[in-house]
Amino acid sequence: MKRKALGQKNALYPSLTTIVGADVDGKPNWLTIAHVGIMNHAYGEVPQYLSIGLHVSHHTNKGIRQHQEFSINIPSQAMLTTTDYVGLVSGEKVDKSTLFAVERGSLAHAPLIADCPVSMELKLYQTVTIGLHEIFIGELVNTYIDETCLTEGKPDLTKIDPILFDFMMVDYWSLGQRTGKPWRDGKTLKK
Ligand SMILES: Cc1cc2nc3c(=O)[nH]c(=O)nc-3n(C[C@H](O)[C@H](O)[C@H](O)COP(=O)(O)O)c2cc1C
Repeated sequence: MKRKALGQKNALYPSLTTIVGADVDGKPNWLTIAHVGIMNHAYGEVPQYLSIGLHVSHHTNKGIRQHQEFSINIPSQAMLTTTDYVGLVSGEKVDKSTLFAVERGSLAHAPLIADCPVSMELKLYQTVTIGLHEIFIGELVNTYIDETCLTEGKPDLTKIDPILFDFMMVDYWSLGQRTGKPWRDGKTLKK
């Protein structure tokens, strides 16, 4: 293998394509976000924190600052065109509030997309500004899932059919095949 240095190029893809929602000036606004972080992960660890990195110029940031609440929705491949659209136009110029049927969970200002297989509502925990981005860290309050996307009570990625994002070639992808079992397959090398 001959490796070539690419310089300071972020190569951490694919990432998950999500739609983030917030109430801005009294109505829901949506934008596509493919830079979502899982801050702590252990099952059963409560609360859990997720981060989203939003350029300061985005209209949605205003709503997250206003109400300290937001949602992260996972669209399916069937929603790819609308998902891309909300990442192309700004709520500052175009009204995106009626694009999706809205549901509310327990937070008043974290609008959830009823047709997304998965939606999470979050309370703003902390904001970190790095250069031109605001990293909003949210405390996860609740997760809602379409019952048909569950297998034996667990969210099933093959049913959710998420959209993966590649910023290097600039493409959307779908899931491939399951290839192994975490925390089990490596055991074959344990002495
Ligand atoms: C696939 C995709 C992924 C995106 N990911 C991000 C992201 O992670 N962070 C970000 O600041 N903008 C991201 N954007 C750009 C915003 O979604 C876009 O500028 C949006 O129109 C801003 O909307 P708003 O001004 O109504 O908030 C992405 C766009 C697309 C199409």
